[in-house]
This record gives sequence, C-alpha cells and structure tokens, in this order.
Amino acid sequence: MSTLTLQPLQELLPGLPAGLPEGLRNYWYPLLQSEELPLGSDRPVALRALGEDLVAWRNAEGAPCVAIDRCPHRAIKLSVGRVLDGDLSCVLHGLRFDGAGRCSLIPWEPERGPAHERLCLQAYPAQELGGYIWAYLGDASAFPPPPLESEVPQELLQPQSFIWFRLPTQIWKASWLIAIDGSDAYHAVVLHTASQSAADIARQGGVPLQDRRIEIVRTSHGVRGVSVDLQGRPIGHGHFTSDVKGDRFALPCVSTNPIVPAPGAPAYASRLWQFPQDAQHTMVVRFISFRAENEAERERATRTFHEVARARLDKVAEEDAWAAEAQGDLLESRRHEHLLAPDEDVVKVRRLITRAFVQQHSGDGRLAVSPGALDFPC
Ligand code: FES
Ligand SMILES: [Fe+2]
Repeated sequence: MSTLTLQPLQELLPGLPAGLPEGLRNYWYPLLQSEELPLGSDRPVALRALGEDLVAWRNAEGAPCVAIDRCPHRAIKLSVGRVLDGDLSCVLHGLRFDGAGRCSLIPWEPERGPAHERLCLQAYPAQELGGYIWAYLGDASAFPPPPLESEVPQELLQPQSFIWFRLPTQIWKASWLIAIDGSDAYHAVVLHTASQSAADIARQGGVPLQDRRIEIVRTSHGVRGVSVDLQGRPIGHGHFTSDVKGDRFALPCVSTNPIVPAPGAPAYASRLWQFPQDAQHTMVVRFISFRAENEAERERATRTFHEVARARLDKVAEEDAWAAEAQGDLLESRRHEHLLAPDEDVVKVRRLITRAFVQQHSGDGRLAVSPGALDFPC
C-alpha cells in the first residue's frame, strides 16, 4: 500500500498535520528487545506500532521477520498461529508466509500456484542489531530503506569501543509528540530534582526548593537549565558534561542526553526512542552507553550503571512518564499551551518532525537522519 497520498494535508492545529499523531513512517524503529523474540520459539509475538498491529517471528536462520498481523485469507491474527520451518503459519487454515510476506504454502493447492501470488502478507524489512529487533515501518518500494547501520547510534556499531545497557521498554499513556516535547533539557532541574544526585539538598549547601531558580544556558547541545540559588550561584547542577557533540534530537524520535552521574564518574549517553504504538500510547525504548575501550573501562562502566545510574534512570523514567501522562490529550494540551523562550528547542524539534511528515506525505522523499546526529555525544 502506498503512502503517497497526494491530497492536501489537513491540519489538526496550526503546525500539526492530521496523521502525525500516528507517527513518522519510513524509518527504522527498535520494536522489540532480542530476548522478547526467543531463538527457536514456535510462538510469534504480537505488538503494536505506528497504529498498526504487527507480528514478529524468526525464520529458519534465526533472522527476525515483521509483518502486519492479519492473515490475507480471512483476516485472523497471525500472531495466534505458529512458526513452522521458519515460516509463519496461520492457525485457521494453515496458509504459510515467509519473512518477505510471500505465501509459501496453501495446504490444498499445488506449490506456487496463482493463488499464492494473490495472497501476499504486508511485511516490513527487519534486522537485529545491538540487542534490538528493528523494522523499517513504511513503504519500502516508494521510500527504499537506507542501511539500518546508517541510522543508529554510533556505539551500536562499535561494540569494541563502547558498552551499552538496555533498559526495559515502557508504554506510556500519552501521545508520542507530548513524550518528545518532554525531552527538553531544562525541565530536569525541576521535575527530576529529587531523583538526580545534583539536586541532593544536603550536598548543595542546603538551598531549599523554594529558594531555587533556573539559569537558562544556551549550549552547542541546546538549551539547558542550571539550578541556582537566589543570588544566581549554581547549586550543584553538575549533571551534564561540558564537552558535547551532536544533536539532542534525531529523526524519527531519538533523544540523546549526555550525563555525568556523579563527580568523577564516567560520562554516559542516554538514548531514548519515543514512538507511537498508536495516537494515545507511546513506546519508550532506552539504553545508556559508555565509551569503553578496554576491560578496565568496561568494568568501571558496568559498576557505574549498576551502582549509580540504574536506580536514577528508573526514577527519571517514572517521572517523565507521569509528566507526559499528566499533560493529557495532545490537542487539548497544544491548544492551551503558551510557549516561553526556553522552549525554542521544543519548537525546533516540532518543526523538524512536521517537515519530515510533510515531505513523505507530498511524495518528495524521505527526510534522512542528518549525518553525525547519532555520533556518541561525549
Ligand atoms: S484465515 Fe488464515 S489461512 Fe485462512
Ligand atoms: Fe525528564
């Protein structure tokens, strides 16, 4: 099915085209973690992304396959079927499909008859990398997928130089556009004030919450907020590295935060994908990565993750989730907002996402992830 609908775009609100709440198509998305699709299992896995019900399984070689979760015969969910010889077998009448969506068996027909041609399953290019199952959700014939390797964070391609830790995938009851807005870098000193070591009141000379203000700082990595006291003295913000490269946001939905979790600890990058399951639910996929060129650095990173970062990340994720959910409906939220100067990054990201959506909708091609946007930031 082509996504090239050359109809004028309806806008839900100024700058918010209809269809965008269901996400940007024609990008690679990390749909599952590798363990969620066990090798050798005969059970396909159901999931939902960009408003579509999908099914995932592994073929006879163990490679991942992703397709629309609906049998083209009589429309039952294929995820309630089974995997036989690496093909997906429908539970109702036994039609089978391979990872490219071709019908490989109709149990009462001779092999490769005309009916096989008619009964194609819509499949998406899929690949496994870095502990994730990725799928290119879109129209691969109109917008051929770039190599996955060209659109993932640098560290996933260089396991000899980096170590990363995947966190459990979450589902938030919020629009992905609200979730992405929540990646601004100046809310942390307020929303995460209790969960960041930097906000430990005792360690910051006892400046109470009511006497804290925010200094807005513009950096090469966007707008940041620094917690200050009433005299404007920084109060142990200390959360970010000063030497940052790359962009905070990359298409289709990746936010990057470089963090030093404690004085003297190794810096890490938090990578966050936030994409719609559907217009009201967001899938949140996160890993954190450290530079680690040798065994000693790998051990130090592992300790930092387990002893310092893990608990804090869990708390921060919980706070971000309820903040996004507390903003409620996307249209209501946008209708009532009044943006302020430090929201300039939010505005930039919104414009980029809208441009990518409009471009693919108009058939002008796909807006690529900008080169270097996913380089390791620190
Ligand atoms: S409905 Fe799937 S084989 Fe008949
Ligand atoms: Fe946050």
